[in-house]
Amino acid sequence: MTTYLVTGGAGFIGSNFVLAGRRAGVGKIINLDKLTYAGNMENLAELAGDPDHVFVRGDIGDRDLVFRLLEEHQPRAVINFAAESHVDRSILGPQAFIETNVMGTFTLLEASLEYWRKSGHNPAGFRFLHISTDEVYGSLEPQDLAFSEDSPYRPNSPYSASKAASDHLARAYYHTYGLPVIITNCSNNYGPRQFPEKLIPLMILNAQQGKPLPIYGDGQNVRDWLYVDDHCRAILTVLKKGLPGETYNIGGRSEMTNNQVMAALCLILDDAVQDSPNRPHKNLITYVTDRPGHDRRYAIDCRKIESELSWHPQETFETGLRKTVAWYLENRNWVESVQSGDYLNWIEKNYQSR
Ligand code: NAD
Ligand code: TYD
Repeated sequence: MTTYLVTGGAGFIGSNFVLAGRRAGVGKIINLDKLTYAGNMENLAELAGDPDHVFVRGDIGDRDLVFRLLEEHQPRAVINFAAESHVDRSILGPQAFIETNVMGTFTLLEASLEYWRKSGHNPAGFRFLHISTDEVYGSLEPQDLAFSEDSPYRPNSPYSASKAASDHLARAYYHTYGLPVIITNCSNNYGPRQFPEKLIPLMILNAQQGKPLPIYGDGQNVRDWLYVDDHCRAILTVLKKGLPGETYNIGGRSEMTNNQVMAALCLILDDAVQDSPNRPHKNLITYVTDRPGHDRRYAIDCRKIESELSWHPQETFETGLRKTVAWYLENRNWVESVQSGDYLNWIEKNYQSR
């Protein structure tokens, strides 16, 4: 059976990937996650008792642990989702971003290189798949062409700078040592299990509770949005057909201003919660002080992965957003435990005794 080492698989995209992978029977998944505030074992509840999902709490920066896992499980690929991922947190406290995104990825690359070399460059088809973001390319003006794989790196936040550094290291391990690295740069994801510090889940939960919906600045910042399952399908496609040393941009062909996102979201909420005292939800929108250094526009040119690997997004923004709203309305226990911090208490209880 094929085995994969997934890092950060208790977070938003990682957990959706692990769940989709196990449902599709891709093989055994070793899931290494430090369980920071963004890692949540409830995301993986569906896999309780699954012998082909092995969860390990640990840090990608722990070289001995990573190497031991690689030697023990002999994975065909390392898929690196583990990261500090929130721009606003990186502005308030960049250090963790350097530690995990830069030093952690470096350590993971080092351990992977040693494993790959020791095994005589086996297992055949080994891949180090590094999951990154379109934010490394910086900010676009309205008339600029979308980011392609050849766009220069111009990161503007501590988050994007730390991701850019990790991308450069991953690239260098291919060019210098031949480690079969592939990098993917994806646009903004949304969907189930996203921590409610990011725009869409934050706004869904605030709207439900009748709290203000805080839009930064004038709300004209543009992002490209991709439903998380489409991203997970893209990653599986890259694992199967992607070439070492290549970068693939992944996007939803769905550029929208934050004002447009909020208008669409408020209408879906009005529709989904007919008896809400907060309808129309758009009345909750408030404009607040802008984020420092707020990138104006991101846009992804994803023609390479579409033409070379035949991947295309399956959801539109409308269908994906409806599914996302439905998930947050249906999964009240998840929401309550995340909002109360109970899931963190669970982590402490569970892991202190080990
Ligand atoms: P997330 O913050 O929801 O999850 C990150 C996970 O990594 C958490 O489970 C956390 O516990 C774990 N982690 C953090 N530090 C760790 C460490 N040192 N060792 C092991 N595990 C650690 O993030 P996400 O939104 O799921 O993003 C996953 C990856 O995708 C990140 O690399 C991010 O840069 C990238 N990405 C995210 C988006 C997006 O819109 N969310 C878009 C493009 C790319
Ligand atoms: P976010 O989800 O933090 O993703 P990123 O900054 O990585 O793109 O934010 C998406 C957009 O929404 C971004 O332009 C910032 C904006 N935003 C708000 O207007 N209000 C908010 O409360 C948040 C969290 C984000």
